[in-house]
Amino acid sequence: MHDDVAQVLFTRARLQARVRALGRRITRDYAGRDLHLITILRGGLFFLTDLARAIELPLSLDCLGISSYAGQVTPGQGRARITKDLDDQIEGRHVLLVEDIIDTGLTLGYIRRSLLVREPASLRVCTLLDRPYRRIVETPVDYVGFEIPDAFVVGYGLDWRGRYRNLPFIATLKPELHT
Ligand code: IMP
Ligand code: MG
Repeated sequence: MHDDVAQVLFTRARLQARVRALGRRITRDYAGRDLHLITILRGGLFFLTDLARAIELPLSLDCLGISSYAGQVTPGQGRARITKDLDDQIEGRHVLLVEDIIDTGLTLGYIRRSLLVREPASLRVCTLLDRPYRRIVETPVDYVGFEIPDAFVVGYGLDWRGRYRNLPFIATLKPELHT
């Protein structure tokens, strides 16, 4: 598996340091509130579990499954849809959405709309990776781990056709593997 890696962008140590820093900020920002973390299956799982442990507040968490817009070029062509709904109600709660990566913003835009109609007390977004220059849908992002260049990345939850999620770092793949 490691033979397929072209370049490591973020080592395990660098990811851990950044996640701890995000955890400290979120701890400060949400002091005294009932924080509810929601991640998007499956890419956000690894980030969620580390981030949750870096937040020193009482919190709860839930997972949302959606079929994403990933890989679609034209907005509106395909439709995102919920494949696994939340288990808990979010009305009146302070929700922090935990995402692996935001690219066009189409997926996040869809998720935000479907969460906001449930009337949470607040809704913020925390993403590990961001490509802000790729946005098609402008959508607010409150916490960002790293901005990354326009190269496909895997590891730490992110996959290529279901694989490489368990790499402990974030890396690009050798081009012959995914072109
Ligand atoms: P968006 O709707 O274009 O913002 O796409 C976001 C989703 O696309 C992410 O949640 C990922 O599932 C997927 N995605 C985007 N870029 C990458 C990447 O470099 N590696 C793996 N998945 C990606
Ligand atoms: Mg995702």
